[in-house]
Amino acid sequence: MLRLDNLNVYYGESHILRNISVEVGPGQVVCLMGRNGVGKTTLLKTIMGLLHSRTGRIMFEGVDISQDSPDHRVRRGLAYVPQGREIFPHLSVRENLHLGFEAAQGSVNGRSEQAALEEVFTLFPKLTVLLDRPGGVLSGGEQQQLAIGRALLAKPKLLLLDEPTEGIQPSIVEQIEQVIEGFKTERQFAILLVEQYMEFAARLADTYVIMAKGAVVASGRAADLTEEQVKRHLVV
Ligand SMILES: Nc1ncnc2c1ncn2[C@@H]1O[C@H](COP(=O)(O)OP(=O)(O)O)[C@@H](O)[C@H]1O
Ligand SMILES: [Mg+2]
Repeated sequence: MLRLDNLNVYYGESHILRNISVEVGPGQVVCLMGRNGVGKTTLLKTIMGLLHSRTGRIMFEGVDISQDSPDHRVRRGLAYVPQGREIFPHLSVRENLHLGFEAAQGSVNGRSEQAALEEVFTLFPKLTVLLDRPGGVLSGGEQQQLAIGRALLAKPKLLLLDEPTEGIQPSIVEQIEQVIEGFKTERQFAILLVEQYMEFAARLADTYVIMAKGAVVASGRAADLTEEQVKRHLVV
């Protein structure tokens, strides 16, 4: 469903991503791992079209989307929850959600906004009591639920999640894990998950990809991920 072919991405003259090739199959959960600074966020931004690759192609459902704007990629079915969540702090939860729905116009297949919201509220009931609060006053876990909920309003085919558990207390991490586990069971869309929290990744992923210094250094079935690999590439 998503195939990255030989991507090379630069910030100015710094060569950040080197010959990256990765595949995500329909309904698959792929976990992208690696230490801070290896280029995981840069890769997700490149997939969304926020950064451009100097070489290679990004194929999504058999179409080369490398030249598409971020907007177009959203309409094609990509959704992105950035690291640090990046909700609008001065807008209410309701307004934040509304923007998520608006961003996806064209890919929601005639669903009403209310129907789309109901689905999100089923997954994250807590949001219903927070609707009139500014996003900025929510806890980290609540903001993450809002950020994921907002992305889901676009009815994505592929959801990109950048470190959803970062800076969130364990009980909320568990809730978020359950929600992702639910997506996985339904297999309605694929997930490319950036995650450093090893156990979380191992429980959820079908396959893993490990990056070091801007390149893919290991990949395979999550069930085959060995301690040796984790020690070599992930433990600080
Ligand atoms: N806006 C930027 N300008 C220049 N260099 C950047 C920028 N953002 C990130 N980098 C550099 O790119 C590399 C990869 O960063 P990033 O993709 O955020 O890594 P990760 O998400 O794996 O922690 C790092 O060396 C980082 O310093
Ligand atoms: Mg990052």
